[in-house]
Amino acid sequence: MPENPVLERVLFSEQQLAGRVAELGREISADYRGKLPLFVGILRGCILFYSDLMKNISVDCNMDFMCLSSYAGGTASTGQVRTMLDLRESIKGRHVVIVEDIVDTGLTLEYLMGNLKNRGAASIEICCLLDKPCNRKADVHPKYVGFTVENEFVIGYGLDYNELYRNLPYIGVFRK
Ligand code: IMP
Repeated sequence: MPENPVLERVLFSEQQLAGRVAELGREISADYRGKLPLFVGILRGCILFYSDLMKNISVDCNMDFMCLSSYAGGTASTGQVRTMLDLRESIKGRHVVIVEDIVDTGLTLEYLMGNLKNRGAASIEICCLLDKPCNRKADVHPKYVGFTVENEFVIGYGLDYNELYRNLPYIGVFRK
């Protein structure tokens, strides 16, 4: 295991991530055969996960991205979200899969689900690498979940602390 002073411990190694992401890709591909899904990556946390997931999608699909910023109240998300980068095209009638790094309170995704529903998507599902259900404040239920985590702050594989550590190829618990 890699030694890294900012980590308390490694939670998921590169090999574990690769294995689980491949499984998710196979599951989603089976569910969306013939549906031309649109994979909407939520920047910036999704980038490593999104890229690895897409290599494991075996059906025709489209790719697009959004960048959202939450207005923080103290350290917690308030659910007020601003769209910094929007989708390029209409999603009317499309089968959308939102690709997110981690669902924590769920407030960001609750906002996004409402927003995308209003644009007339045929279906919307959430695929998240990590789910932290103990912190949930909104009624969101990701259909595709890589791993469930406890109430710990994690970094790496796209996840940051103060915009650092997104480039780590594994996921670990941040040492406070
Ligand atoms: P929420 O579900 O609206 O509370 O916010 C989810 C967002 O908070 C994620 O997309 C991450 O950017 C960030 N986040 C939540 N928990 C963590 C964590 O443990 N590490 C890094 N970012 C996190």
